[in-house]
Amino acid sequence: MQHVRAIAEWRRSASALRESGRTVALVPTMGALHAGHESLVAAARDRGDAVVLSVFVNPRQFNDADDLARYPRTPEADEEFARRAGVDVLVTPALAEMWPTGRATATTVNVGPLGELFEGVDRPGHFNGVASVVAKLLIVNGPGRLYLGEKDFQQLVLVRQMVHDLGFDVEVVGCPIVRESSGLALSSRNVRLSEAGREVARGFSRALARVSEPAAASVQRARLRASLEESGVDIAYVDVVDPTSLASARDDEVGERRALLAGYVEGVRLIDNGRLWVGR
Ligand code: PAF
Repeated sequence: MQHVRAIAEWRRSASALRESGRTVALVPTMGALHAGHESLVAAARDRGDAVVLSVFVNPRQFNDADDLARYPRTPEADEEFARRAGVDVLVTPALAEMWPTGRATATTVNVGPLGELFEGVDRPGHFNGVASVVAKLLIVNGPGRLYLGEKDFQQLVLVRQMVHDLGFDVEVVGCPIVRESSGLALSSRNVRLSEAGREVARGFSRALARVSEPAAASVQRARLRASLEESGVDIAYVDVVDPTSLASARDDEVGERRALLAGYVEGVRLIDNGRLWVGR
């Protein structure tokens, strides 16, 4: 595995991989790597792609300085993890190269109104920060594929939109959520939960299991909400949306939609989502 830090060297490595005839996959991360990230690398390797994994804790997507300071940073473990997962190139760019003009004045990619919904309500500017960094990573990495998890479903939708709107020569691949056998979706935030908190957090997957039977969108929303409340989750939002436009499903709609859930457990903000059927 090659480990590069300088952007010019990263560009050269990705070009060399393409010249050798391989499709170059980018797996962007903020480190603290876990089995969820490993599944993205495995999906890329299964398709025969050369895998570039970036680790960069992007300050522009945090609007809370405390949250940024507390974000787990485990560089040695991440390097070992990437090596074992079969990554071809690990990239750990420096802040000064990623945002040379400073985080407050740097060019911003604005994802528009969808960035202000759901996760964007409590975290203004978050998705513009995500889009700005993903755009830069894609530009440096060059054409190929981009692997993202469905866990951050709104992020996946907005990045797809950005790639489409701005004409990146990149195929976006969304990969399924990785869960513990108990149903709890993997997240680097889970380490902040006590055993009792983890039990409450399992309420997200229990709620998703409650909507396996088709019903009108408003009935599905009510089932999800009741189930989360029963589990003791302090709900931030619950919705049933179109998986492409993120528009809330109406009661006259029929088809596959996405349930989006967010809430607090022991003060830790958690999200989850899943497919469901609305209508008959
Ligand atoms: O999902 C993440 O870890 C981050 O939002 C991403 C896509 C790496 C951009 O910083």
